[in-house]
Amino acid sequence: MAEIVIVSDAGAAGELVADAVSSLITRKADAVLGLATGSTPLAVYRALAARASSLDLRRVSGFALDEYVGLPVSHPESYRSVITREVVEPIGLDPDRVHVPNGNAETIQTAGAAYERAIVAAGGIDLQILGVGTDGHIGFNEPGSSFASLTRVKTLTEQTRRDNARFFDSPDEVPMHCITQGLGTILRAEHLVMLAFGEGKANAVAASVEGPLSAMMPGSAIQLHPHATVVIDEAAASKLKLADYYRYAYAHKPDWQGI
Ligand code: GLP
Repeated sequence: MAEIVIVSDAGAAGELVADAVSSLITRKADAVLGLATGSTPLAVYRALAARASSLDLRRVSGFALDEYVGLPVSHPESYRSVITREVVEPIGLDPDRVHVPNGNAETIQTAGAAYERAIVAAGGIDLQILGVGTDGHIGFNEPGSSFASLTRVKTLTEQTRRDNARFFDSPDEVPMHCITQGLGTILRAEHLVMLAFGEGKANAVAASVEGPLSAMMPGSAIQLHPHATVVIDEAAASKLKLADYYRYAYAHKPDWQGI
């Protein structure tokens, strides 16, 4: 199963995951990072930005999970803009090495396959950072997504559009379609790191980690991965049945192992 690490707060999670990313980059200068958007991974990006001066990031590349379809890339809430603002600039990654699925409606039919080819050409994703939606979506793989799915167009659920409306002037402005790495794409990464904070994520975390494998709960796909780490605060862990066991296992883990 995934390793569950329960931390005090988002700041501690950010430091822990930034440690894993730093050690990856130190042993592999051309590391490929999978980048999630949303508020959850910001703590990781902040912690990485703080230590960027001690890392050689010149050959590091990144692949975002998803993008809205039909939103101009210049829109401040396009995931291209978000990734540039929250990841590329603060950390100092080479913008030419950071990729976001192409949500241009005119070329959308071939954009998914092109993105898959680009990931393969880069040698695959080494460490994939993931958030989780309140309905259990990862990337934009809404409930019902196939565990074998690759990058493709999806229709956002009303719940996700409502959740994301806070980033837009009005709920109607949230696009209805997106292009997202599939669950199959995500499962190809070497190491998955899912983060979640707050009580609002507790059900999705419990169902993803301890519930049955089901396309109805896309986050449960992480149970199929040989190296998945779930880093959560106490509130997000509050519905886990085996929380004490996870704490015990983590407390007795050898120091050399990392996450
Ligand atoms: C968005 C993104 C996901 C993200 C999720 C949770 O819809 N497409 O990649 O994990 O919402 O967002 P947040 O971290 O802001 O709760």
